[in-house]
Amino acid sequence: MYGSDSINDDSERTAFRKTEKKYKLYYDSTSKSSKKKKQPRPVDLSEVIDFKAISESFDRNGDLRAGVSKLECPFDRPVFCLDDCPGFYFIPAALSIEEQCRWIKESLMSFPQPPNRTNHNAIYGAVHNLFNAAKNKQALVKDETAPAEDDSVSVDINSQNHRWACLEELDSSVNGDSCKSVSASVLLRKLRWSTLGLQFDWSKRSYNVSLPHNKIPDALCQLAKKMAAPAMAVGEEFQPEAAIVNYFGSGDMLGGHLDDMEADWSKPIVSMSLGCKAIFLLGGKSRNDEPLAMFLRSGDIVLMSGEARERFHGVPRIFTDTEHAEIGSLEKQFSDEDDSFYLEYIKTSRININIRQVF
Ligand code: OGA
Ligand code: MN
Repeated sequence: MYGSDSINDDSERTAFRKTEKKYKLYYDSTSKSSKKKKQPRPVDLSEVIDFKAISESFDRNGDLRAGVSKLECPFDRPVFCLDDCPGFYFIPAALSIEEQCRWIKESLMSFPQPPNRTNHNAIYGAVHNLFNAAKNKQALVKDETAPAEDDSVSVDINSQNHRWACLEELDSSVNGDSCKSVSASVLLRKLRWSTLGLQFDWSKRSYNVSLPHNKIPDALCQLAKKMAAPAMAVGEEFQPEAAIVNYFGSGDMLGGHLDDMEADWSKPIVSMSLGCKAIFLLGGKSRNDEPLAMFLRSGDIVLMSGEARERFHGVPRIFTDTEHAEIGSLEKQFSDEDDSFYLEYIKTSRININIRQVF
């Protein structure tokens, strides 16, 4: 998945790679005054499909742009399809603002909790309470007396078998020795993924059923089943068994890839967007096929099933500037003082939860 984004001469030349580069965040370095803040390079967004505008225009006068259809289905939200891409479904604003806030909170507070694994496991082992530790300005401190951890097992931070232990108050003495401690807020910023349910092993690019894991939380399971319905055969129910949560900061991207480790591709991947707006690229079966670009906003849900699962896709860009991020209603919802740390995080971040049936 992530590994498929390796840069070589060939990948530079594919149509997918070219479009990624078109939308990726670059900074103009040619500012006249050296004091001037770096400005993001302007990007032409006129070809990006906007399902919010499509949905609003459909509500107003029943119009749909060429190539886009509305699915006839007993579902309480309009579901759009692309005529050239069977198995792909877009549900704009599928989640209410309350639901968006709930899943943002869960994604930061509970989803990275062990036994779920995150990108930090490889270096730090299992890290507990990262979000609260960052909020409380704590640090993760290296315990030189403990043996190095075997990354293949999730180990409790309090156990002996662990090098990076207890989160302590971040004071100047700890902070001064950068080799032996790392602030939790830096780790939170560098959180790139966490895995729920059956654990995906990125090094082997497969699910490792022997890793300790919890079931997908019931509320997320119910939501995924409901949202998957438009892509399911009549009488069948989606079985959420694993989920990958992706965390994006400004400048982060998810390179073109296929999700091909699940047994039955007729089942959808249910993909929820939270936080800052992003550009999603939906390519073809080859990287040489030119991808379509579309906006993904907080609350949108995408389903990819059947043939659509054979298509390369990725996220070359998230927008963190006020004009394009489109998180005004989230900011209002998080305006309570208790939520200020969530607000601070999500103002410059996007979270994607994608839920899969593995078998
Ligand atoms: C993925 C994926 C898309 C997104 O994690 O496999 O395709 O919207 N994510 O972040
Ligand atoms: Mn994917």
